[in-house]
Amino acid sequence: MPFDVARAREDFPILSRQINDKPLIYLDSGASAQKPNAVIDAMSHAMRHSYANVHRGLHRLANETTDAYEAGRETVARFIKADVNEIIFTKSATEAMNLIAHSFGDGLKAGDVVLTTEMEHHANIVPWYMLAERKGVELKYVPILDDGSLDMAAFDAVLTDRVKIVAVTHMSNVLGTINPISEIIQKAHAVGAKTVIDGAQGIVHLDVDVKALDADFYVFSAHKLYGPTGLGVLYGKAELLNAMPPYQGGGEMIARVTKDKITWNEPPHRFEAGTPAILEVIGLKAAIDWLSQFDRAEVVAHEHVLYQRAYDRLTQINSLRVHGTAEGKGSILTFSLGQAHAHDVAQILDRYNVAVRAGTHCAEPLMTRLGVTSTVRASIALYNTEEEIDVLAEAVAKAQSFFA
Ligand SMILES: Cc1ncc(COP(=O)(O)O)c(C=O)c1O
Repeated sequence: MPFDVARAREDFPILSRQINDKPLIYLDSGASAQKPNAVIDAMSHAMRHSYANVHRGLHRLANETTDAYEAGRETVARFIKADVNEIIFTKSATEAMNLIAHSFGDGLKAGDVVLTTEMEHHANIVPWYMLAERKGVELKYVPILDDGSLDMAAFDAVLTDRVKIVAVTHMSNVLGTINPISEIIQKAHAVGAKTVIDGAQGIVHLDVDVKALDADFYVFSAHKLYGPTGLGVLYGKAELLNAMPPYQGGGEMIARVTKDKITWNEPPHRFEAGTPAILEVIGLKAAIDWLSQFDRAEVVAHEHVLYQRAYDRLTQINSLRVHGTAEGKGSILTFSLGQAHAHDVAQILDRYNVAVRAGTHCAEPLMTRLGVTSTVRASIALYNTEEEIDVLAEAVAKAQSFFA
């Protein structure tokens, strides 16, 4: 049976909200996705029926909650084809990046190179910049081509055995570009570099098999994957995690503490100091279970039809310029409208109840490359419809006539 968007929408209470008697059109899922009942109910059920701290208690509620939390880890591991002890829960994709940049990155030395790209989110730039400042490491950026794809010839040219980390996004949060990460990982390994894949957007739209990819690290946030905020996932190869020092100190990440000597717990607990995001892990498990009822390829096909419809309609509008047209790109449509400021465009769209993101999208080097100070982004999720895309197009046309 093809993907039934009307049926899927019924799972999202917020999507039935009306503002001024008109439906809400949410095209900002790239920033954070709405939550299905399955997630809301799972978290609420845990708080109502079985909640305690994890890993510490000996009583029934502590054991039940620990089981629920660890079941979340197992679900995430299955979802990306990892082993369960290779899944670390952090507070966000951003924190996961910082963890890698500190714990693994501190092993780098002056003269080593970290390679990132011009299309990255700040979460995949700033931690490396800070590492460069701390350790005298050199940070280099692979450029992009005009269609928003990565310049692979430039990547090849800059990839020497001085490169120790290649940090690249699976899917750009601005251009929608899907990078050839399998090829990038293989090439990085050929010069002895480790790979850090920013999967914050990719995990939402692509099947991820970290073993088949041979990724060293893969990170994402729960809240873009229809799950709760306050939770990120860091996948790391067991052999790397085992050799890495802790990032933060506190409860649970230790094996033994005396006044003079402390020994570390095994991964993943070594990297989960303090009380973790228990309810959020339960929520993420529910999100993944919920998502797993759909055929991923059909969902992607649905999103692609909407993207194409949006592209076809918006590119008929005078002075509208789409940023990112790489082949096989995902369902993110970012544009500029003449000389209009993106914030003004987004505010006009908001009058039509169309929620989009406007600004730099935490990707300022990319904005510089595109020669703009800000852009408007419509990001499409599985619950969006053709009717919504048509309202978007009409609202953008109205905005254009306003600025003309
Ligand atoms: C590509 C990409 N990487 C990283 C992040 C950071 O995610 P978070 O803010 O959840 O840590 C985002 C968020 O927009 C993103 O789109």
